Amino acid sequence: MSHLADQHILVGITGGIAAYKSAELVRRLGDQGAQVQVIMTDAAKAFIAPLTLQALSGRPVRDTLLDPEAESGMGHIELGRWADTVLVAPASADFIARLAVGLASDLLSTVCLATPAPVYLAPAMNQEMWRKPTTQRNLATLEADGITVLGPASGMQACGDDGPGRMLEPEQLINSISGPQVRGALEGMRVMITAGPTWEALDPVRGLSNHSSGKMGYAVATAARSAGASVDLISGPVTLPPPRDIKIQKVQTAQQMLAAVEKGVSKCDIFIGVAAVVDYRPIQTAASKIKKDAQTLTVELVRNPDILAQVAHRPNAPFTVGFAAETDHAIEYGRQKLQSKGLDLIAVNQVGGEDSPFGSDNNQLTLIGPHDEVDLGLDSKAVLAAQLVEEIARRYHEKSST
Ligand code: PMT
Repeated sequence: MSHLADQHILVGITGGIAAYKSAELVRRLGDQGAQVQVIMTDAAKAFIAPLTLQALSGRPVRDTLLDPEAESGMGHIELGRWADTVLVAPASADFIARLAVGLASDLLSTVCLATPAPVYLAPAMNQEMWRKPTTQRNLATLEADGITVLGPASGMQACGDDGPGRMLEPEQLINSISGPQVRGALEGMRVMITAGPTWEALDPVRGLSNHSSGKMGYAVATAARSAGASVDLISGPVTLPPPRDIKIQKVQTAQQMLAAVEKGVSKCDIFIGVAAVVDYRPIQTAASKIKKDAQTLTVELVRNPDILAQVAHRPNAPFTVGFAAETDHAIEYGRQKLQSKGLDLIAVNQVGGEDSPFGSDNNQLTLIGPHDEVDLGLDSKAVLAAQLVEEIARRYHEKSST
């Protein structure tokens, strides 16, 4: 049975083109057995008709703060008390700003203030608006106040821009609110995470790297922070915005990543290696651009240090978690890496082919521990990261108590 069966879910809809996805969200919540009450802002009604949401939720949409009829039945206080969960999807930049300063200027913002239930926001806006320090500041304030921000995803936007600001898909939102509750699971822990690719220069303009976007590693960092950990993120070159409330250090090469890890790893309780570290680097980096006169070019490479194995083999090593990216026999090779690198847990994903996780918002993970295997299946990286962090927290506490 779904975790959402008989749960009271209050879905808030604000003004944005992504409001069309809210109809599907409400329908799917109903399919899971949840009781859904929709609240719309005036701006939301410019994008989708309340009647559609009434038909899908089986309840009249609520939209008025000072409604004499409702006040005698379920006013903003009753709605706030009725809800087990509040999910605002889409949450516009304007709504986020109002919530961040505590304005109770319409029914939805008032219910968000009045409710004791957990509040989730699924932001949706143009990528420039998303990146603005004002928006990031408002979100940081809301997160510090205990509100959970889901997404956004990155990609093509309705306005034609390409970047972060797309609302997560209804299925991803439902998984996030019904999935494991990681909050507090790593309270007081220090977690170090590597993410993204490394770049090994051949000359000032060319180099060896791979397709890692950093999305998986940044999602794990965000989930660990939500679980209460203080997080050190060591990131290769990626274009993602830095996650809020996380100490980030940007590096280029595997050797720089190793140096950054070595500097702080002795203070951490848990280490998670999500980075796609380039295994070989050119023995020499040319000082000037290599001319393309010759028909062939031979480059001599040398093995890069294995950062993850070095962490796992330290005296007093932290609880060490690796990832394995394999094109074939993924589980078998993953199990071998768990043993050869001396890890506590490894998350295996298949790369290559059409569903490759590189750069995608989704992934498919299998966790392998020394004595078991857990298939997390296919899901958004945000949901998988939360599940992974929950597993890590459980295994870490189990190991520390023996
Ligand atoms: O960044 P995304 O686009 O979101 O894509 C996510 C991902 C596919 C990069 C991620 O899910 C993933 O699989 N990361 C590990 C990629 C990798 O390098 O796998 P590997 O099997 O080659 O390495 C095994 C482990 O050893 C990894 O934890 C890696 O960080 C670590 N390693 C590898 C080589 C090396 N020299 N040093 C290391 O620490």
